[in-house]
Amino acid sequence: MSRVCTSIPGLDDLIEGGFVENDVILITGGPGTGKTTFGIQYLIGGIKDKNEPGIYVSFEETPARVIRNMWRFGWDLEQHVRENMLRIIQVDPIRYKDFIIKEAHSAAIQLKPEGNMLKSTLDQVQLMIKEINARRLFIDSITSLKISPDESMVRFTIMEMIKNLEKLDCTTLLSSEIIKENSSFSVEEYLCEGVIKLHVFRIGGNKEKAIEILKMRGVKHDEIMHPYTIIDNGIVVFPTDSVIHSMV
Ligand SMILES: Nc1ncnc2c1ncn2[C@@H]1O[C@H](COP(=O)(O)OP(=O)(O)O)[C@@H](O)[C@H]1O
Ligand SMILES: [Mg+2]
Repeated sequence: MSRVCTSIPGLDDLIEGGFVENDVILITGGPGTGKTTFGIQYLIGGIKDKNEPGIYVSFEETPARVIRNMWRFGWDLEQHVRENMLRIIQVDPIRYKDFIIKEAHSAAIQLKPEGNMLKSTLDQVQLMIKEINARRLFIDSITSLKISPDESMVRFTIMEMIKNLEKLDCTTLLSSEIIKENSSFSVEEYLCEGVIKLHVFRIGGNKEKAIEILKMRGVKHDEIMHPYTIIDNGIVVFPTDSVIHSMV
């Protein structure tokens, strides 16, 4: 199996050298845990160290905001776009929202509006992959696909999305936000080949960040929680240290 380095220092050691090529991996965690940073670092690492072009799909933040935020880590997204090593695709789910909610009451064509958003997004991604020969893809985040009040439609949309991402000739990272800790497994956790979870614990008066590999299909992965930190040049994992946390 070919491996794709994660470009997160320390993380490859926990998963036998990197993601399995062409897998779809979920990165999940609460707000501010570093999911966007993680995904962009994965893309930047591909561009700078492996000469692998990447695609960033943002469902949440505007490109201007992401470009500004990532600048703090010394990552010049605009330059990579100019060099045809990066494409940024912005999808605004709000544009589809009224339509979804209106249509959700009509049993017959419930899936259509969300299907369209998904289809146009995936079509665009496919076009961009061809255009720049992208090898890495980051979708941030699928939580915004859950705006519909119809749970079964949400599940269907996410299943469709993951099924289609699996067909692409790209190694894909998908982010999702955990709103409530210890909630039951979500459909994306079942369907993705790998799940990486970012935790923030309060230990005494301090906040401690920990990364956990929940699953990585076909990979003998590490099962304990390791500390990670966000510093001036991105995320760093400490593979030889562990975080002991009691849920009580
Ligand atoms: N240069 C930096 N050094 C340390 N932490 C930073 C730096 N820049 C941003 N952060 C932290 O990174 C986090 C933002 O991460 P982000 O990737 O946007 O999270 P998420 O996408 O999970 O909401 C914030 O908690 C912020 O405080
Ligand atoms: Mg984010």
